[in-house]
Amino acid sequence: MSLTRDMKALVLSGGKGTRLRPLTYTGAKQLVPIANRPILAYVFDNLAKAGIKDVGVIISPETGDEIRQTMGDGSNWGIKVTYILQAEPKGLAHAVLTAADFLGDSSFVMYLGDNLIGCGIESFIDTFRASGADAVILLKSVKNPQSFGVAEVDANGKILRLEEKPKEPRSNLALVGVYIFSKEIHKAIGRTRPSARGELEITDAIQDLISAGRPVQSHLLDTWWLDTGKKDDMLAANTVVLDEWFKRDIRGQVDEKSVVTGRVTIDKGAVVKNSTLRGPIVIGEGAVVEDSFIGPFTSVGPSTVIRKSIIEHCVILAGAEISHVDRMEDSLIGRNARVVKCHHKHEALRLMIGDDSLVEV
Ligand code: G1P
Repeated sequence: MSLTRDMKALVLSGGKGTRLRPLTYTGAKQLVPIANRPILAYVFDNLAKAGIKDVGVIISPETGDEIRQTMGDGSNWGIKVTYILQAEPKGLAHAVLTAADFLGDSSFVMYLGDNLIGCGIESFIDTFRASGADAVILLKSVKNPQSFGVAEVDANGKILRLEEKPKEPRSNLALVGVYIFSKEIHKAIGRTRPSARGELEITDAIQDLISAGRPVQSHLLDTWWLDTGKKDDMLAANTVVLDEWFKRDIRGQVDEKSVVTGRVTIDKGAVVKNSTLRGPIVIGEGAVVEDSFIGPFTSVGPSTVIRKSIIEHCVILAGAEISHVDRMEDSLIGRNARVVKCHHKHEALRLMIGDDSLVEV
């Protein structure tokens, strides 16, 4: 661990999160909760576990204040967080340029704040130390490499070539959003020109290192990786995190008419009455669940109310209300949203749905 003390981290939490609209109209995509914790909390967990103490967080003018308020100064994790404003989203390499003063000559882990991986980063850091490379990139084989940065590697894992979102990928190895760099990356970024989409791409800067003959090594990720960009990814992330990381922990009140089976976490101040809960599930602080069934892989946010409903495999964010819903599955419900079945004679739907929402009836 002591070896990691000199290494810094740069967490990228800028951007506008258009792919998660409407959930991210009102918030940063890196704060979207997975099993009731913001994605960034898992990123900080991994950095702290690896012994990294000095963490820079790149924020945008739109969502920076919210990120600062939610994540604080890092003391909950025993790390020191420095927030760095990137005035415009001009690319990942531009973010590194923006953080140049903070990074100095230190080696650093660059971690995209919307990436969630199923393990720690210690062995990845070991690869960086052992290889003496100027960059180590984390790779994972995927079905849709066209959507990512793609790497070509030799038999020893040395990177031969990188391409950002190629139409005809040369391999199925995608760049996961976690990288480790030596100070050489700053020179490479200095030589990088904006891409066709007008951004300074980190993929181009790493390719520049390779072209300049500097060693760039890969490390294969052997657990899951979720780029939490879309609804189904979020549901998948919620499922995996509840399945792998949650234990039975009941701090709220459960009445004698309720049945709670399996790994169910109920936070303090939550109330469960006359309901059946089958884990893995998390129920947030101050939530109320009454006369309902909640099935596996569901996260119920803080202060949410669920009455006379059957819910399974859903993510329900803070302050939402679900009432008299016969069966709801595979759904993502935003903050303070209400899903209420009315008992009128006519069967017409009565909706008030925000921009970019999806209702499947
Ligand atoms: C970025 C990188 C890409 C990488 C991906 C991982 O893409 O440019 O190489 O594979 O993150 O999440 P973006 O999400 O900015 O399109």
